Amino acid sequence: MNRVFSGVQPTGNLHLGNYLGAIRNWVTLQADHECIYCVVDLHAITVAQDPAELRASTREVAASLLAAGIDAKTGILFNQSQVSAHAELAWIFNCVARLGWLNRMTQFKEKAGKHRENASVGLYAYPNLMAADILTYKATHVPVGEDQKQHLELCRDIAQAFNSQYGVDCFPLTEPLIFGEATRVMSLRDGTAKMSKSDPSDYARINLTDPPDLIVKKIRRARTDPDPLPSTPDELESRPEAANLVGIFAALCSESVEAVCRRFDGAQFSTFKEKLAELAIAELTPITAEMQRLMDDPAYVESVLHDGAERARNLSEPVIREVQEVVGFLIA
Ligand code: AMP
Ligand code: TRP
Repeated sequence: MNRVFSGVQPTGNLHLGNYLGAIRNWVTLQADHECIYCVVDLHAITVAQDPAELRASTREVAASLLAAGIDAKTGILFNQSQVSAHAELAWIFNCVARLGWLNRMTQFKEKAGKHRENASVGLYAYPNLMAADILTYKATHVPVGEDQKQHLELCRDIAQAFNSQYGVDCFPLTEPLIFGEATRVMSLRDGTAKMSKSDPSDYARINLTDPPDLIVKKIRRARTDPDPLPSTPDELESRPEAANLVGIFAALCSESVEAVCRRFDGAQFSTFKEKLAELAIAELTPITAEMQRLMDDPAYVESVLHDGAERARNLSEPVIREVQEVVGFLIA
């Protein structure tokens, strides 16, 4: 059986990187998979969060997912903290994963930065919780952006170590699904940095909440080099900003980077950027409008999450029960 699981953190606005790298693929997969999507609030508190803002962001991210086309009726949409299985299994995985494995995680190194001693233990153990999210549902496929690849490798290591430590075939070896032409969308200000919610410059990203005139402005101001567009993708290799914009264009119109290069061969970036802004606006405007509509009805969004949590709990309970038996907890 194929089962898809993925998660997104409720910290700040969703941006074009989240959308092209992950969420749009989540929507596509719904057509032929059982899908479980999660707003990962337990992951969010690995760095300090204001409680009121966390609640608001959880609603907002859920609204964005619904607006982008996540179907919470055939699939499941919920927030992580409401299904205790995630935290329970994460503890067991804390006892399976090795320090050496976590020490290799580049996201921890980036997020902890120079203040490693001051980082929370939760930030360090974050990938174990992520493995628990996935394996609580024995999910077989996980659609994510390129930056999560290492965490998914760790998830497989944990599943394998658990299965072999206890001599069982309990957990699947989950496959990452990283597809499309924009698996790693870069900052509009710096082609070597990832587009991220935490970039201090709002001009580095396009938020799903940005109005059309702001999208035009951000794309116009996006950094490029003085050369025109090349005829082949090879020539983009040493031009990170140009490569990023061409990749975004290709993803938005569902064409290959090669086809986009052929179409714009020799064009100036000013012309190309106008077309790119048009495409981005056409794709994002309906989502933004639907999101605003949903944000005016927080009770509805909460009812969707409530219902999703109940269904997720029902799926996770037998797995937790099985794990407790395997580990040797006395089920009293
Ligand atoms: P996060 O916002 O870190 O919770 O990420 C949610 C999803 O979006 C994950 O699958 C990430 O891999 C994906 N993602 C985040 N930033 C980017 C980016 N700049 N390019 C492509 N995918 C991204
Ligand atoms: N760590 C992911 C991110 O920051 C979010 C996440 C948490 C996730 N749990 C997950 C993604 C499980 C896929 C599956 O992007």
